[in-house]
Amino acid sequence: MNARKVILDCDPGIDDALALMLALSLPGLDVVGITVVCGNVPVEKGVKNALKILELMNRTEIPVYAGEARPLVRPYVDAMDTHGEDGLGEAGFPDPSVSCSSQDAVSFLADRLSAEEELSVIALGPMTNLARLLERSPEAFARIQELVSMGGTYKSHGNCSPVAEYNYWCDPDAAAKVYEAYASMPELSGKQIHMIGLDVTRKIVLTPNLIEYMKRIHPVLGGKIEAITRFYLDFHWQQEGIIGCVTNDPLAVAYFADRSLCSGFDAYTAVETEGISYGQTLVDAYDFWKKPHNSYILTETDPFRFWLLFCCQVLGGDESAVRHIFSQILTEEVPA
Ligand code: BDR
Ligand code: CA
Repeated sequence: MNARKVILDCDPGIDDALALMLALSLPGLDVVGITVVCGNVPVEKGVKNALKILELMNRTEIPVYAGEARPLVRPYVDAMDTHGEDGLGEAGFPDPSVSCSSQDAVSFLADRLSAEEELSVIALGPMTNLARLLERSPEAFARIQELVSMGGTYKSHGNCSPVAEYNYWCDPDAAAKVYEAYASMPELSGKQIHMIGLDVTRKIVLTPNLIEYMKRIHPVLGGKIEAITRFYLDFHWQQEGIIGCVTNDPLAVAYFADRSLCSGFDAYTAVETEGISYGQTLVDAYDFWKKPHNSYILTETDPFRFWLLFCCQVLGGDESAVRHIFSQILTEEVPA
């Protein structure tokens, strides 16, 4: 079977970096480009970080495109308190020796989607690039084969307010536009946004034990993962009172590659853009409004199988050996 073509739209970002590492390691994925949006860090820093990860993974042939520098309407709020000043946990990665493409991310998305028969997008940051694509070229936008988005929450609490998750909170107007397009554009009828929200990603916790084991499987990459996640671990201890860090973005990549990793239900979803609950995903789970089901809301996942995939594909672990160690260190279900 041919590898599936995909564009990663991201804001690296510690967990974006882990997601890129996973995407670049999966034989079933053909990453045709990386588009960067302002989010965790300003877009120029995000571009640098994407290039740093490509260098680490020896994949600098993949082009990187700089995207939108500001949300559609709201003032831009970064997440450097979570990801460090450099966005990669202040791990001291060397500056990349390659640079990004001169084409902007939105034109790249428009050109490539118009040219390819089957091209999907995994969105790991605020949806600003995608909303601009929708404005500039709705025909190209409608050609996205599948859109998997890390963002939002259904029943889980938010991470930027009691009800809002960062990617949609950072640019609620963009997320609202994209979700509404999936409910109203005839060209998108029958398609849904696969929403990998905090309900599932909070179950994917990278613990110190797991990091220790990763270093034993692959000292170089395991060491880099330890370096970039230390800051994130400290943040989670302060903010969420857990030992370990929630690794949101890699689950979206893993789910794109293997649908059996998450399950959920389809529903109409809107994104709030105003008031104290801005950024909240309002999921009409009981079909109150009888509107087109523009989203597939993932609510269940299997952390054991996710980490198995990560350790085997990114770090080259032997499956039966990894299973054996996991039976020692991954025994507890992490509460949602
Ligand atoms: C999302 O926000 C960012 O901080 C992470 O990279 C992830 O995409 C989680 O809310
Ligand atoms: Ca992200």
